[in-house]
Amino acid sequence: MHVQLSEEQLLLRETVRRFAAEVVAPRAREIDESGEFPRDFFDRAGELGLAGVAVPDEYGGAGMDGVSYCIVVEEIARVCASSAVVLSVNNSLVCDPLLAFGSEEQKQRFLEPLAAGRKLGCFALTEPDAGSDAAALRTTARRDGDDYVLDGSKVFITNGSHADLALVFASVDLEARHKGITAFIVETDRPGFRRGAHEYKLGVNASGTTELVFEDLRVPAAQRVGEEGMGFKIAMATLDGGRVGISAQAVGIAQGAFEEALAYSRDRRQFGRSIADFQAIQFYLADMSTEIDAGRLLTWKAAWAKEHKKRYSLEAAQAKLFTSEMAQRVTSKALQIHGGYGYTKDYNVERYFRDARITEIYEGTSEIQKVVIASAILGS
Ligand code: CAA
Repeated sequence: MHVQLSEEQLLLRETVRRFAAEVVAPRAREIDESGEFPRDFFDRAGELGLAGVAVPDEYGGAGMDGVSYCIVVEEIARVCASSAVVLSVNNSLVCDPLLAFGSEEQKQRFLEPLAAGRKLGCFALTEPDAGSDAAALRTTARRDGDDYVLDGSKVFITNGSHADLALVFASVDLEARHKGITAFIVETDRPGFRRGAHEYKLGVNASGTTELVFEDLRVPAAQRVGEEGMGFKIAMATLDGGRVGISAQAVGIAQGAFEEALAYSRDRRQFGRSIADFQAIQFYLADMSTEIDAGRLLTWKAAWAKEHKKRYSLEAAQAKLFTSEMAQRVTSKALQIHGGYGYTKDYNVERYFRDARITEIYEGTSEIQKVVIASAILGS
């Protein structure tokens, strides 16, 4: 593993940074306030090859490596966390499992438009009574001829408001718990599919978080991903990759807040000098930059492990645990450096502070990451 970026990765970072500055940043505050889903951003990201960064080009993607994917998510999150998670869900939670577990026909028909950014995907696992305990889900899938009939509902689904395709986890045998869970790729314009309540949240306000409802929803058996009963393992393996994406998002949020605080500390004058001249502020900045670098390296290590190890749950969980908690500390210090101004809507740091909070919750809480880490350490 190299900790130095290649020429291609440096060029990618420059390109995405420019795209983020010109297209994403100018609307970040506005969509945070309005909650408007950034579909236009997703479409343009797709044109740049960012909707399926690590998907081979034969399936519509950019064919890049995992560290490149982290660079993309970090650069977008550096200016807009909502846009970053929209992209991350499409890449990690929908494209990745279709690439790993989909049939050739499913890859041609569903992965290609998702990776090219012509279609938007969402990942439908969580239910009202099945959050951390994902295996407790109650959505059912009953076989009927060449179809399955799905009934149930999902909550907190990022991209749910606008997704064209959903990767849905449902049980063919509730008694079997995780061994009954099966994955399906579902078109959201089918009869029996309905978008339910929209969630109003503390942060990542533009990520289209909604409930999804399935009532006698017929899904052709050809749209089952993997075998019956494989769904839980597909979901868990997918979340390992998703957690690397969320780590990159947390690093990006922290980096964005740090840069705002650095600039502000140079400009702001108190007691006759710039506040960056005070050691208290310097020590904050020193801690922030050190923690961000540590988080970025853990994230890249997990991205590397994804490509080189059969199972990388440990590396992914460690990266997510550290970076999400690091992002709380860094955004909180960034707000402190801004003083009273940081607490107002006139500055971006309050948005970074709010947006950082979700990284400790979605795609597995910090407590779940510790369960995964402990289980890997103890070999249980
Ligand atoms: N890869 C492959 N297989 C895995 C796996 C992985 N990472 N993790 C577990 N498995 C397998 C196990 O080996 C086991 O297999 P066998 O049946 O062959 O023994 C099986 O899955 C069951 O494993 P566990 O007994 O460990 O399962 P559990 O019910 O105890 O759950 C858990 C473990 C870690 C708590 C898991 O439920 C979990 O990660 N929960 C959190 C769920 C989560 O992250 N939800 C986020 C939803 S997505 C989201 O946030 C959406 C969004 O829109 C952004």
